[in-house]
Amino acid sequence: MTDKKTIFSGIQPSGALTLGNYLGAIKNWTSMQEDYQSIFCVVDLHAITVPKEPKDLRKNTLEVLANYIAAGLDPDKAILFVQSHVPAHAELAWVLDCFAYFGELSRMTQFKDKSQKQVGNINAGLFNYPVLMAADILLYNTDLVPVGEDQRQHLELARDIAQRFNNRFSPTFAVPEPYISKIGAKVMSLQDPTSKMSKSDDNQNSYILLSDDDDTIRRKFKRAVTDSIGVVNYSEDQPGVKNMIDMMAKISGRSVESITEDYLGQGYAKLKEDTAEVVIQEIAPIREEATRLLQDKKYLETIYQKGADRAEAIAMKMLRKVYKKVGFVPRR
Ligand code: TRP
Repeated sequence: MTDKKTIFSGIQPSGALTLGNYLGAIKNWTSMQEDYQSIFCVVDLHAITVPKEPKDLRKNTLEVLANYIAAGLDPDKAILFVQSHVPAHAELAWVLDCFAYFGELSRMTQFKDKSQKQVGNINAGLFNYPVLMAADILLYNTDLVPVGEDQRQHLELARDIAQRFNNRFSPTFAVPEPYISKIGAKVMSLQDPTSKMSKSDDNQNSYILLSDDDDTIRRKFKRAVTDSIGVVNYSEDQPGVKNMIDMMAKISGRSVESITEDYLGQGYAKLKEDTAEVVIQEIAPIREEATRLLQDKKYLETIYQKGADRAEAIAMKMLRKVYKKVGFVPRR
């Protein structure tokens, strides 16, 4: 045991990872793993709230894991595992379902958005999604949850459920805090820089995949939408330009101001070209390493098995505590 604080986060295996997943999430985690007891999950239970082809789900699950490792998450430091391998997640979710209200779940904006996108399939899993997420977090006495701004409401709900349970019984769950980094937390679409980069976008030019080859990345940046002002400035009025500067700042660790200064008197073409090169330098090695790891299924298997064993040891302790508090008779 350590006295380090615990962080927990996860990504759904619902398709190829984007530059947004990397800069907004995984890259931050790689530095956090040094200072925190770190647990990173591939949330496959969440992924099936949207219909999935089984073979794609299997492939995507291993891809997310391979990319975690390729991007620098260290299986000896962080616990890396697949959600469905630890049944305690689904089990705690059921208990927490009984402490979550229909009204509050109905107000979740992601539920409302996703319902609109699949009117013919507003399944109960989609509705209960945030409760499963609360279970993920609460099983590990998580202190901090590094997520994007879009997950803030789910985090609030996890906090409410934790407090409700603690008040009903006795202190059981740590009440988690969101950890939302500012710069580059949200990578915007290259085609519509006022909306988030998303792989579900119909226009493939709007996103960079971690699997994109160098020329594809150059081409997509070349076509990126900017504005007609024509002067490089870091401003909300120039979201396309701001997006490029944010990406560079996030990758290089330099300040937004000093990057903006570099482009005084330069056109957008140069900014786009340079951003493409900075991105390529950062993600090409990850792409190559992930490709290599995916050819070594045995290695990936040892990693996720070890991860699930470690996660389960922590999760089962919490689940037993919860079962006892609600009054379930222990099996032995
Ligand atoms: N809902 C999160 C997302 O889409 C993924 C997720 C599931 C998660 N469980 C989690 C994130 C627990 C942080 C902690 O992005």
